[in-house]
Amino acid sequence: MNEDVRTGFEAFQPETFAFDEQSEAEIEKILRKYPPGRQASAVLPLLYLVQNQMARQTGSGWVPRAAMDVVAKRLEMPPIRVYEVATFYTMFQLRPVGRFHLQVCTTTPCWLRGSDKVVAACKQEAGIRGFGETSADGLFTLSEVECLGACVNAPVLQINNDLYEDLDAERTIALLQAFRRGEPPPPGSTIGRIGSAPEGGPMTLISEIEPPPAPGAE
Ligand code: FES
Repeated sequence: MNEDVRTGFEAFQPETFAFDEQSEAEIEKILRKYPPGRQASAVLPLLYLVQNQMARQTGSGWVPRAAMDVVAKRLEMPPIRVYEVATFYTMFQLRPVGRFHLQVCTTTPCWLRGSDKVVAACKQEAGIRGFGETSADGLFTLSEVECLGACVNAPVLQINNDLYEDLDAERTIALLQAFRRGEPPPPGSTIGRIGSAPEGGPMTLISEIEPPPAPGAE
């Protein structure tokens, strides 16, 4: 490998990683779910804890290689098996991202409902040209993702760990501006839809269910 490329690739990798108190408390709860000898099954939640801890500590949620080694040691599994998991799932970031990681779903239902406009609005407001780029102020990184499982409220944008739904260009810009001000709105529908109910409100299961007649009653 070219020396410059290798140096550039490794430059952002911290040499060490240690779980903090908050993560340790979570790990204790997670490991209790698995019988002895099956701790390796906790690899996904532990990698997720790493990413969240990095976000808390550095403002960038990602999973450094040193942390994968710590996870491997904690779960008594070969490091390569942790690398395989971390590099397979796109939910894990393998290099630093902006404080707010904008993950736009462009799969068919979101695309049909206007994800192109959401992408364009993200680029415009963050001042970036395309996917994989981070804004000059380090606040936003834009990524393209597959279905986020909330198609019923498409188009959907995930910011860090939260989903924002029913977006259009205007609401996307307002959303990014709110994050920039440090005033992120509650996640969910941006048009006030309740859960995944139809626009305008629920249309089924809106009346109280009649209790069944008591035994022996006419
Ligand atoms: S297609 Fe976008 S959330 Fe499913």
